[in-house]
Amino acid sequence: MTDVTGTLAPRADFPLLAAQPGLHYLDSAATAQKPRLVLDALRDFYETANANPHRGAYALSALATDRYHEARATIARFVGVADADRLIFTRGTTEAMNLVATSWGRTNVRAGDEIVVTALEHHANFVPWQQLAKAVGATLRIVELTAQQTIDLDQLRDLVTTRTRVVAVTHVSNAVGAITPLDDVVRLVRARSRAIIVVDGAQAVPHLPVDLDALDVDFYAFSGHKLLGPMGIGVLVGRRALLEAMPPYQFGGDMIEWVHDLDSTWNVLPHKFEAGTPNAADAVGLAAATRYLTALGMANVRAHEVALLARAEAAVRALPGVTVYGPPPTERSGVLSFSVADVHPHDLATILDQHGVCIRAGHHCAQPLMRRLGVSATARASFYVYSDDRDVDALVGALEAAQALFATSG
Ligand code: ALA
Repeated sequence: MTDVTGTLAPRADFPLLAAQPGLHYLDSAATAQKPRLVLDALRDFYETANANPHRGAYALSALATDRYHEARATIARFVGVADADRLIFTRGTTEAMNLVATSWGRTNVRAGDEIVVTALEHHANFVPWQQLAKAVGATLRIVELTAQQTIDLDQLRDLVTTRTRVVAVTHVSNAVGAITPLDDVVRLVRARSRAIIVVDGAQAVPHLPVDLDALDVDFYAFSGHKLLGPMGIGVLVGRRALLEAMPPYQFGGDMIEWVHDLDSTWNVLPHKFEAGTPNAADAVGLAAATRYLTALGMANVRAHEVALLARAEAAVRALPGVTVYGPPPTERSGVLSFSVADVHPHDLATILDQHGVCIRAGHHCAQPLMRRLGVSATARASFYVYSDDRDVDALVGALEAAQALFATSG
């Protein structure tokens, strides 16, 4: 292949990649590599500002508090949220979804109500709703997919009724990369019901420009570690009125106003949903990651991934016996999900690893989707800001080697 282009973000910015020039990391949908600037921000917090936020009447604790809330404001700006207090820090998207399904769901969903999810969901935006439906006697409705593994909007239109209390959709599929047209979903749901709309943005915020104040959804969640940030921190953005009306998800320090012997009252947003010592250092690290992405420009991130994906898809499709899942590259994030005839995805991933190529193989925590594809697993290569044409070429070369190996051993 010719026309090797540079990365959007230099590998030199990422210590792990810089230290391993032969590594082709194509599993960014699972977790992204971390730029030095994020690692520096974490170290700087612990070296210069470490104290328990909100607790000490001394300057160092006030500094930790300031850093924590500056981080919240920075991340809120990154996703277009003017009211930063409706941005709740969680451990990740999974915890955010459990928070909504438990706190809002247990209070508002009753027997006979309906919850609409899609067959494209990651388990984190499927199982909490399935279990809520079981617990309260509501009915779970599942929107099926088109032949290209996108949400079937016609079926969504049919399933959403005045009985629907929740519509839970992914913004971008982790397993096949399909991008959901959220504006269409919102229009359709609002026209037919008073359901809340809950969006899993874990695979969207790292890859697309996202402007949440312009998007009429009720809850939107994403994770830090897929966004160049640390593991163990994520975000839930909720509609203020809903968050204020919801009961806390966890009880403990920081989230209370008054604790009487027999009852308690709750702190204001965002503290009501952040029980215990806050994860201030990781919030600071995530804020640094959003600054890095802002400097790159999210429109450039998107364009970079579309170009890489188009190149990868054309090359992989040219190999014999390859099936690629999902819609065309322009309608996907930087995810290439595929299978190779007669080679199990796990075997493929193991052989690719011997060529320095890291991909994910498995059900991608999306078993409802795998059932609909009629497979137990796919191979998934996923790209990000530090990926380049050399990674694509290494992927294709390693796939050719795997096919040659299986041809001779078969
Ligand atoms: N949800 C992550 C993935 O898709 C772990 O790989």
